[in-house]
Amino acid sequence: MNLPLKPPGLALAPAAPRFINRYSDTLDGQPRSALQDLADGLNEVAASVSPKYFYDALGSKLFEAITQLDEYYPTRTEACIFRTEHAQMASALGAAGVRRPCLIDLGAGNCAKAASLIPHLQPQQYVPVDISVEFLRDAAEQVQGMFPALDVVAVGMDFSAGLVLPPEVQTSDRVFFYPGSSLGNFSSEEALAFLRRISDPAQGGARGLLLGIDLVKDKATLEAAYDDTLGVTAAFNKNLLRHVNRLLGSDFDARHWQHLALFNEAESRIEMHLQAQKNLTVRWPGGERSFRGGERIHTESSYKYTLASMSALLRQAGFTQINYWTDPKGWFAVFWAAV
Ligand code: AVI
Repeated sequence: MNLPLKPPGLALAPAAPRFINRYSDTLDGQPRSALQDLADGLNEVAASVSPKYFYDALGSKLFEAITQLDEYYPTRTEACIFRTEHAQMASALGAAGVRRPCLIDLGAGNCAKAASLIPHLQPQQYVPVDISVEFLRDAAEQVQGMFPALDVVAVGMDFSAGLVLPPEVQTSDRVFFYPGSSLGNFSSEEALAFLRRISDPAQGGARGLLLGIDLVKDKATLEAAYDDTLGVTAAFNKNLLRHVNRLLGSDFDARHWQHLALFNEAESRIEMHLQAQKNLTVRWPGGERSFRGGERIHTESSYKYTLASMSALLRQAGFTQINYWTDPKGWFAVFWAAV
């Protein structure tokens, strides 16, 4: 006879992730510095807005759609490297003495990349960190559903401002996971400072970093990846104006702006811009900026590295042992850098 595993009528509570919000996405809760940051960028001679403002709830969904486009090769190429090299990655962590890591997923998004590695890296704790708070909450619940026994601590915060994590995050065996070539959205100075923060025991407290990086390739492939036929990347870029309107109270009209994506070979970076389609003035409480037709707002740089340039940067940042894996075309690389 089969005995019931639990007394009838007693439901087991589903595992729930812990959720810590250190970042508010609303105008009222917005740190003063973000408003200042936006106004300062718009008032520069060459106007700019940080790419972190792409990621409101809709922006995160549009980015998810970008990752499924034919032209946007980074996500599927990286996923393929994870699928083929996960055992080597697990042994590289093991060789550095890391057994059951605390996996800290920076810019976790939908958490899909970490979910593909969790069965192989067997973390003790999984910490998805993202600026897009509501999106993160849903994603963390989904991961918890997939791995009910895993300790999931989701942290809503802007980690570009610092890496001090809440006390709920375990301090031992921290492994930072920064996939998707998001490091490429920092300038080289910012990237170095960020990597130094991770390798500095006083700040990040990491044993190592698992990093996904897009590599230099031909201009046509790169530009198509950031200017797709369906116009999803254009919508992603223009949605930034809606987000800025909400945060700053500005009156950008997305219909008057055109999406541009250009590979700047000298700087080894894709640049995304929004170009004014006519002379116009944008107003917000306490400020305004006039744009001539053809004038641009620089919204994103996406730096492309070589295996040698990224290895050198990691060493300069204080990482000692460096391994990497690439795809057969050499389009993308995953690095393991131990502290
Ligand atoms: C998140 N980041 C790595 C993406 C990139 O490729 O630079 C953002 C993106 N921008 C346009 N398409 C994708």
